[in-house]
Amino acid sequence: MVISEKMYHELNEQVNAELWSAYLYLSMSVWFSEQNLNGFAYWMNKQFQEEQEHAMKIINYVHERSGNITLKPIDKVKTSWNNPSEAFQDTYEHEQKVTSYIYKLMSSAIEIKDYATQNFLQWFVKEQVEEEDTALNLLETLKKVENIPSALIMLDKELGTRK
Ligand code: FEO
Repeated sequence: MVISEKMYHELNEQVNAELWSAYLYLSMSVWFSEQNLNGFAYWMNKQFQEEQEHAMKIINYVHERSGNITLKPIDKVKTSWNNPSEAFQDTYEHEQKVTSYIYKLMSSAIEIKDYATQNFLQWFVKEQVEEEDTALNLLETLKKVENIPSALIMLDKELGTRK
């Protein structure tokens, strides 16, 4: 079955949103690196890679369903933060926004009885629970340790070991 025009259009928009997310995390990675917080920079770089994988997942799915993808320009992103917790506040808020996009996609798939896309989107629903949880935990930890240099260095080291 070929993907519906409405669903295809919305998935195409989500590719752009995932690539914008990738760009945001790349920007954060660059900023952390310039603050000499290389563990944080590494963690954000992993995040950058994951978002590209999310975009590719959608592209591959649309292709599997005989749809086409039209890549759009990626809007500019923020390039500096006042402190690490501000970056993680932005991360948490951004992931909440992405979750709302995924839910909107799911609502459309349900509305048009596109069972294959509902099944496909389940992976993203689960992923977003994880993404929000991780961002919130790191934000809360950072708020506690941000002004204690030795603790911040330890957290930086820990983040540098992300698989
Ligand atoms: Fe692709 Fe972080 O959501």
